[in-house]
Amino acid sequence: MDQTSRLGQEHLLRVVYSHQQIASEVARLAEEINKAYSGRELLVIVVLKGALFFAADLLRGLRIPVRVDFVKLSSYDGMMSSGHVQLTKDLDTEVAGRDVLVVEDIIDTGLTLSFLVDLLHKRGVASLSVCTLIDKKERRQAQFDPDFVGFDCPGGFLVGYGLDFNERLRELPSIYEIVENNTGEVE
Ligand code: XMP
Ligand code: MG
Repeated sequence: MDQTSRLGQEHLLRVVYSHQQIASEVARLAEEINKAYSGRELLVIVVLKGALFFAADLLRGLRIPVRVDFVKLSSYDGMMSSGHVQLTKDLDTEVAGRDVLVVEDIIDTGLTLSFLVDLLHKRGVASLSVCTLIDKKERRQAQFDPDFVGFDCPGGFLVGYGLDFNERLRELPSIYEIVENNTGEVE
């Protein structure tokens, strides 16, 4: 089954970041993080589920000691953010006094990450930074600036490399934009 038939005839997938581009950007980010945290131990908090693939690749590029934990937050329904953020899976780890790096797939309105960052500060982290693979910074509603950014992206709904459309298409190795099929053509 190809990607288009998984989506239906009304939509096409347009490659935005190839798996080669992603690999080189992830390697660059890992080097930045190695440099920034040299000599320290890091607690990496992965935001499920979208950041799973990104985090798996990023972590393998790190040469500093790390612990890994996961949170799950929800604010999305299909392609739209509901604006109401909920913690649906909490950490297993005590974060007080730790150097924490949050790993996210995409920052869009910024509401999800603002919520998580506030929560982690309230729990007494020693330091906190955020690494996102993709930053849609033109769409911000909450003031929020990540510390490590892979790609700046103006907009569009993206799938692949962990990003989903209603839980589908995460397994694609590259990142695609879902576009309307006005032409009747199938990519
Ligand atoms: P906010 O708006 O709170 O949203 O910054 C961040 C969360 O929304 C998800 N998101 C997307 N997921 N394709 C996706 O699969 C997208 O284009 C997209 N834009 C935002 C993402 O999971 C992130 O955690
Ligand atoms: Mg996410």
